Amino acid sequence: MGSSQARVRNSPNDVGTYLTVAAEDMKTIYLDHNATTPIRPEVLEAMMPFLKDEFGNPSSLHQLGQKSRKAVEEARAKLAAFIGADDPNEIIFTSGGTESDNLAIKGTAVARGKPLSKVTTSTVEHSAVRRVLFQLEKSGWCQVSKIPVTSAGCLDKSARETHLSPDTDLVTLMLVNNETGVIQPVEEIFIAAREKGVTIHTDAVQAAGRIPIDVNQLGVDLLSLSGHKLGAPKGIGILYVRKGTRLEALIHGGSQEKNRRGGTENVAAIVGLGVAADLAREELSAAPRRIEPLRNLLEKEILSQIPKTAVNGAGATRVCNTTNILFEFTDNTQMVMALDMKGISVSNGSACASGNPEPSHVLLAMGLPQDKAHASIRFSLGSDTTKEDIETAIPLIVTTVQQIRSNHPLWKEK
Ligand SMILES: Cc1ncc(COP(=O)(O)O)c(C=O)c1O
Repeated sequence: MGSSQARVRNSPNDVGTYLTVAAEDMKTIYLDHNATTPIRPEVLEAMMPFLKDEFGNPSSLHQLGQKSRKAVEEARAKLAAFIGADDPNEIIFTSGGTESDNLAIKGTAVARGKPLSKVTTSTVEHSAVRRVLFQLEKSGWCQVSKIPVTSAGCLDKSARETHLSPDTDLVTLMLVNNETGVIQPVEEIFIAAREKGVTIHTDAVQAAGRIPIDVNQLGVDLLSLSGHKLGAPKGIGILYVRKGTRLEALIHGGSQEKNRRGGTENVAAIVGLGVAADLAREELSAAPRRIEPLRNLLEKEILSQIPKTAVNGAGATRVCNTTNILFEFTDNTQMVMALDMKGISVSNGSACASGNPEPSHVLLAMGLPQDKAHASIRFSLGSDTTKEDIETAIPLIVTTVQQIRSNHPLWKEK
């Protein structure tokens, strides 16, 4: 991955602003694919013509414009095939997962023209859902009911009935948790919601390319995806909208995306997303077979070589690439920075929350106390991760934990 830079903290309280120092040229072992993935070469290659010669506006009638239109519609068909949608017109291109989540939830509320009675969600959603609901509730636009999770991070299905009532208008639940990789058991809740005629949205951003996604099997009306978690560039995503679902646009302007999202389409990124979706579909069965043993090796060696460690979410079914590990008597911001200086990129929570001194709401919802939530690290592997990467990373993680613990007052007392 070429040269890298290491970052050091200015002061113990300075979590958000780091002093950037040049580090020696070293290969980065990138274990943060849930934050973002590198653009795949095939994706970049497909995008290039649309960043250079094929620059037409898809709304233009001339040939240059129509070439772009054709490319956008071909990509739309690829995305529809990727998620099993009946009709490519059910796909709206957006700027990414956050916009898709906003459009799904606020667009449903606005389409009704009145506050939503009740929205059912969970305690472990990404901030792109969580904060939207918080804002809507604060403005009196909905009442939110949150399904708790078990200590393994799974939706507590026994609580389902109390969270789905006759006045529920919308259910929004993620398919895969971004911090723990837990695959949420949403099927029964979605079936119950469908029987009650409730609109169903799922944030499938971390599921894409890791587990099969079929909108009809899931029975969802709305589904969010993001390109940059899938080897496509940042700033592109989709919202799937089942035909007949009431949804009001949030961005008004031109009549693009059939009046559901104004603004000239990001043609190159859309083309890239189409290729990434095709690749993900082709590789869906092979990728877990390759990545899961590497994730398991990382977990096994950490747990056996480092005392006082545990996998958060170990008791749940998880996607193949993610592990969230508690290293007791450490601080996860220090860990991220120390590992970064050794050339290993990991995360101390969701990318959107890093720099945030608050402990992870996901880990707290699973019942971890604050100090343990502050001592947990997410490792997320990807299509470019090799066995050599994992074997190189393990001893570096072991020594990093030893170094950090050697300065921890409670560890010293042990
Ligand atoms: C579960 C989930 N939803 C939504 C998002 C936001 O996606 P984007 O970065 O494309 O806005 C993310 C990004 O980390 C995510 O993990």
